Formats: sequence, structure tokens, C-alpha cells
Amino acid sequence: MAFDVVVTRVLPEAGLELLRRSGVKLWINPVDAPLAHAELLARLATAEGVVATLADTLDADAIAAAPRLRAVSNYAVGYNNIDIAACTQRGIGVSNTPGVLTQATAETAWALLMMAARRCGEAERHVRTGTWAGWGPMQFLGVDIIGRTLGIIGPGRIAKQVARLARGFDMKVLYYGRSRHADWDQELNATFTDLPTLLRESDFVSIHCPLTPQTRHLLGPAQLALMKPTAVLVNTARGPVVDEAALARALATGQIFAAGLDVYEFEPTIHPDLLNLPNVVLLPHIGSGTQSTRSRMSVMVAEDILAMLSGRAPAHGVNPEVWATR
Ligand code: DGY
Repeated sequence: MAFDVVVTRVLPEAGLELLRRSGVKLWINPVDAPLAHAELLARLATAEGVVATLADTLDADAIAAAPRLRAVSNYAVGYNNIDIAACTQRGIGVSNTPGVLTQATAETAWALLMMAARRCGEAERHVRTGTWAGWGPMQFLGVDIIGRTLGIIGPGRIAKQVARLARGFDMKVLYYGRSRHADWDQELNATFTDLPTLLRESDFVSIHCPLTPQTRHLLGPAQLALMKPTAVLVNTARGPVVDEAALARALATGQIFAAGLDVYEFEPTIHPDLLNLPNVVLLPHIGSGTQSTRSRMSVMVAEDILAMLSGRAPAHGVNPEVWATR
């Protein structure tokens, strides 16, 4: 296959190897950093396929700057970085990496939940800075997890795994999304609620919805004000779902107990107040970051881009209408 394929970031070898063996003309960004937008546009000028990451903005302008583009494989399950309508209109297929990262991301959500509840970040910094002078009855008192209520926003695959893991803690599960899901009600014994009820009644709130115009700032000052002062907020989905400045205020004023964040409104910039607050655990967007998961993701994006460039629908397409008419 003599197609020009751009890979915007060094990925695990398994996927790159598949691409190399396919015979496509491959350009892999040699630097372990996102491409500057101008360079991305320059690379797209001749590309037929692009393996992108969530740090690459493939908006309508970028698509317009890519006259030969036929296929985009996004190395992420979320694809808010891509203008899908613009791709579909041009007949460009888009794929993502669902399923494979469900467990890893659910584990990250649980790690954040537990770290924030038990103040592990603060406590670890205390030890590392040499400040710890021995056991103390009042040191780093957290909140209990067992038997408490977990509120899930966005009942998708990752959310379901987070809810399954909550069974090990005998938690009651509430969920809020666009519609009620029979499997959540029956299998997980979860209760569908409206958002205000979920926020008022949950001890832990975990965000799993995609970023869309409807979910941007879904949690702002008014919503955070509904949460319990003992509540913990976890976000492993997309940063802009939460108004980060409002969250920083809620944490600083004790409106909520703590937060655990893997994603940010303006990545990689983090609101300066969050960086200074003790009661927020901050991770650098590592939700899917296990060796095996990232390796399997690299194979998925490679297989899907090769399928699309061969004129076949990808196994994980997000705009199947592109292929329906072929
Ligand atoms: C995704 O796949 O959307 C995640 O955010 C990557 O970690």
C-alpha cells in the first residue's frame, strides 16, 4: 500500500510494526511531544491516513488542510478532538479504541477515588518531605468508602466497570445519563436519577461522559454546591466537563471534601489553584496507561487505519455512514 500515513506520536511498537510491514509510507513524529498545530497541518497536506492522539486537534480547518485524507485512527476512546461531521462530509473514516482500555481506565478512577478519600497524595508528600514525625491519632483523617453511595455520570463501558468494582465495597450506585439502562438496573442494582439528586445523595461522584457541547461545564458552581461537604469528585473522562475554576473554589472553601483528577480543562495547563490545594489528587492523563492496554491500542489503530485505507470499514469506526454507501 503506497499511502502516506502520519503517526503524530511514538506509540508502542506492536502497532508501529504492523504499519511498517504493511508497506505504507510512514512518517512517525520522532519527538515524544505533540506536534505543533502548524506542523500537524503541514504533515496533513499530503497524508492519506493519520494516526492521531487526543492532543491533536483535527477540527474543520485541519480537515480542510488535508485534501488527500481518507482515514483517521484516534489513539483514544474519546474523539472530541476530531470534527466528525467535517470528516463524514468529506468521506473520511474515523476510528477510535473502545473496550480495550475499559479496565485500565476504571482502575485509574478507583485509584483516584481511594487516594482522594484517604488523602494519600497529601500523606505521601508529608512523608517524602521529611516532615513525618511518627504516628498520630489525628493525622490525615479521610472519609470511609465502604457502604457509601457512588454516583456515576455517563453510564458507558468504563463507568460500568467502575460500578462493578464498587460491589467489592458494598456501595449503593446511582447513575445519571441520557437514558435509563436495563443492565445497570438489573445487573448492578443501580438507580437512575436526575443530576441534582445524584449530586445531593452521592458520597463519591465519578465522571464518565464524553465531552460534547451538552456536557461542557456540566458541573459548574451550581452543581458543585449541591454536593455533600464530605463528597469526593473523580474525573477520568474529559476536563472541560467540569468548570475547573469552580472546582478549585469548591475544594478551597470545603464545599466538597476532595477531588481526584486525571483530566483537565486546558491540558496540559492545570488551574494554578488546584496545583496549590492539598485536597486534590492530580494525575497526568494516564487513564488507559498500562503497558498491555497501550500496546493493544496501538494494534487497534494500526489495523483500523490499514482497513480504512484498503477501502474497508474499520472494526472500531465512529462514522459508519462513510462506509455504508460504499
Ligand atoms: C481516552 O482514550 O479517551 C483516554 O482519555 C486516553 O487515556
